Amino acid sequence: MKYKSQKVAYWFFALSMLLLVLQIVYGFVMGFARIGLDNLHDFIPFNTARAVHTNLLVVWLLSGFMGAAYYIIPEEAQRELVSVKLAYVQLISLAVVGVVAIVGYHFNYWEGRKFLEIPRPLDFLVVANVLLFLGLILVTLFKGKRRTTTALVLSMGLLFAALLYLPGMLPFDSQVTDSFFRWWVVHLWVEGVWELIMGGILSFLLIKLTGVDREVIEKWLYVIVGLTFLSGVLGTGHHYYYIGVNKIWLIVGGIFSALEPLAFLAMALFAVNMYRKGEKKHPNKLALYWTLGAAIVSFVGAGLLGFAHTLPQTNLYTHGTLVTAMHGHLAFWGAYGMIVLAIISYALPNLTGRKLYQSTRGRAAYWLSNIGMIGMTVAFGVAGVAQVYLERKFGMDFMQVQGEISVHFVVLILCATIFTTGIVLYVIDFYKHGKPNDEALEQTID
Ligand code: HEM
Ligand code: HEM
Ligand SMILES: [Fe+2]
Repeated sequence: MKYKSQKVAYWFFALSMLLLVLQIVYGFVMGFARIGLDNLHDFIPFNTARAVHTNLLVVWLLSGFMGAAYYIIPEEAQRELVSVKLAYVQLISLAVVGVVAIVGYHFNYWEGRKFLEIPRPLDFLVVANVLLFLGLILVTLFKGKRRTTTALVLSMGLLFAALLYLPGMLPFDSQVTDSFFRWWVVHLWVEGVWELIMGGILSFLLIKLTGVDREVIEKWLYVIVGLTFLSGVLGTGHHYYYIGVNKIWLIVGGIFSALEPLAFLAMALFAVNMYRKGEKKHPNKLALYWTLGAAIVSFVGAGLLGFAHTLPQTNLYTHGTLVTAMHGHLAFWGAYGMIVLAIISYALPNLTGRKLYQSTRGRAAYWLSNIGMIGMTVAFGVAGVAQVYLERKFGMDFMQVQGEISVHFVVLILCATIFTTGIVLYVIDFYKHGKPNDEALEQTID
């Protein structure tokens, strides 16, 4: 059974695609600047490009999560969204806040706190937007016929993500306190509540694509939620090692963050096992690829590459270097980028009626983007390790080191080109699916 209001999801996905492409443009601006081709410097200096690149990342992912929720919640709750009109109001206001923030950065209206650069007055608009979104989702869920674990975990993730935005809005004079609470947003998002969002979407997709019983799939989901909270909350300590707070965090952060990969391992095992168990042959193989890919690549990018620099002994040397960028790229891509592309790949044929998942283009998009991103990760990693040795072990001057490692950015740009080719193919596929319509929804293959 499908619901007409699920069509709203399409427009959130479309916004998401647009912002992803823009994010990549700013990535290239930085990549070229790193090899000395910094002709845009007067208009887009590196710090602006960096803030725009990472903020666009967060907004395209959030837009993707919101689209996912608008698609999944009606189906799980078995009723239409309470108000489609308000959902469109929310969509437009999200786009407006995004555009105002991005344009503002180019005129130097920004807070210099990594990932939370948007000026505090705009924060209130974000809060209003997210409240409207949550209202629509939660009321739909509670008025619905069913409250599934999948829907509850997804909504809890979204609700907690909104609540955790608030500590980031408190103004502090002390750099230490400011940094302490900044991590409540940045860390507890990606290594806490966003994992619930990912788990919820993953569970929905596995139910649809493998045909394994909901009870079995949702049992795994409990395990993942448990492991996430057990490790992720105190794992925040891996950002508190040397920022000027109590030394207890060296031990607490070290131990608990070292356990964090378990949640991602569980997610990968979960997906692969359900795939093996599944007897259903759902025709949308492409969505299945993206789903399994998200579970596996997130384990590598977040779990393994996160672990690589999470112990205090290592982090002392690697903190804030390109080692962090190496991990940041593959973790964000694997966990959140790929899960958004997975739900889009699943939902789009149902919303539009065009079943393009047989096309070579879709498969090429999958492989090129993943191979490209793995190459980029290696390039960042080699640059990062070289940077750590030259700068932190041998004491070479910061800028001199940046010159020494610029050659790795040539490799980065090559791999980023492969990645981008994949994304462009994905976006072409998206466009070719056409617009959502009611007749198509009725013919959904479940
Ligand atoms: C999907 C999940 C994850 C994502 C998206 C992610 C992303 C990121 C990003 C973007 C940063 C840089 C943050 C900043 O400097 O403001 C970061 C830092 C860090 N991450 Fe992750 N991460 C994830 C999971 C993990 C896990 C599971 C671990 C540990 C096992 C980990 C360990 C670290 C450490 C130690 C840092 C600090 C690096 C430094 O000191 O510069 N991450 N992560
Ligand atoms: C063609 C594509 C891309 C290029 C050329 C690119 C390049 C870059 C560069 C040069 C930086 C700054 C590193 C530094 O401080 O020197 C950066 C930061 C970052 N990019 Fe990308 N990027 C691309 C795509 C992506 C994608 C698709 C994602 C996420 C899925 C992503 C996530 C990030 C994150 C999280 C950071 C901040 C890392 C940190 O905190 O250390 N980028 N990117
Ligand atoms: Fe963290």
